[in-house]
Amino acid sequence: MSILAGIDIGGTKCAVSLGVMGDRADQQIEIIAKRRFATLSGAEANIARLLSELEELLIEAGQGDAEHGQLEAIGISCGGPLNSKAGLILSPPNLPDWSRVDIVTPFRERFAVPVGLQNDANACALAEWKWGAGQGSRNMIFLTFGTGMGAGLILDGRLYSGTSDMAGEVGHMRLSPTGPVGYGKAGSFEGFCSGGGIAELGRMEAARLFKEGRTPSFCAEPGAIPAITAEAIGEAAQRGEADAFDIFQTVARQLGRGLAILVDILNPEVIVIGSIYGRQLPLLERVMQEELQREALSHSLSVCRILPAGLKEQVGDYAGLSVALNQLITAN
Ligand code: BGC
Ligand code: NA
Repeated sequence: MSILAGIDIGGTKCAVSLGVMGDRADQQIEIIAKRRFATLSGAEANIARLLSELEELLIEAGQGDAEHGQLEAIGISCGGPLNSKAGLILSPPNLPDWSRVDIVTPFRERFAVPVGLQNDANACALAEWKWGAGQGSRNMIFLTFGTGMGAGLILDGRLYSGTSDMAGEVGHMRLSPTGPVGYGKAGSFEGFCSGGGIAELGRMEAARLFKEGRTPSFCAEPGAIPAITAEAIGEAAQRGEADAFDIFQTVARQLGRGLAILVDILNPEVIVIGSIYGRQLPLLERVMQEELQREALSHSLSVCRILPAGLKEQVGDYAGLSVALNQLITAN
């Protein structure tokens, strides 16, 4: 038995997961414990908290007993830009107060095991490729579609991370001259297809409706506009409210457009989409497919499956664990 730890650093939450791996040959990992907390302000506070959460989890899990074995590697997954080889988090837009943070050294010093860092979308791609909807494929794209939008690219049977770890920053592609901003620029893929972007579309629509003397289904009064969330819009859309439904159709159309570009450039076998896509499949799938048929070349599209994450809501936990597993394999 080996224990592996996965660390997920996000703009809204951070998490630590412990997994146990029985057989090194089959590389199956079972998650045995998890802790999460709302991201604190400042890198140092988050690192200190992550270190102590991991330490406590290891004690709780009975590290060192015959049943579980020892901690053998740690994998960290975080939004880019980052330098995975140097173990540096550079300046992620969703972590505005982080800048050139050495994230690997504190974990290596405290736990004395190999520690790896990877872009979150890349780490999710590795996890879905190994254990989820991308199993058995050689060309696979993973799209986060959560708080932000990023891609992990598995090409010709290996992770492609680009010249400076920046491959797959698809969220920043502009799909439309205007639109929600997300963390980047107006009308970008991330602007439309992310939790923040959907909320932004909701705020624009609510402001417009109130001006016309109407009340949006997902917001009771003008004073509540800043607090509109993607979840609230999703719930209203699922109840069949037309204003909320239309927002999701806009998102679905832009999702199809973004996917079409990726299909045309990379000719993938499968595109796996996380988070919001899996939760809102009935609201997104039809219009997304229509747009894809219109925009992508049919010879590419006909060989490409579009699937929600097979690991469902656990993909983020397995992301860090997949990075830990890679560390373990390369260290031995
Ligand atoms: C970042 C990507 C990241 C994505 C998902 C984007 O804003 O630029 O590096 O993968 O968010 O977190
Ligand atoms: Na990426």
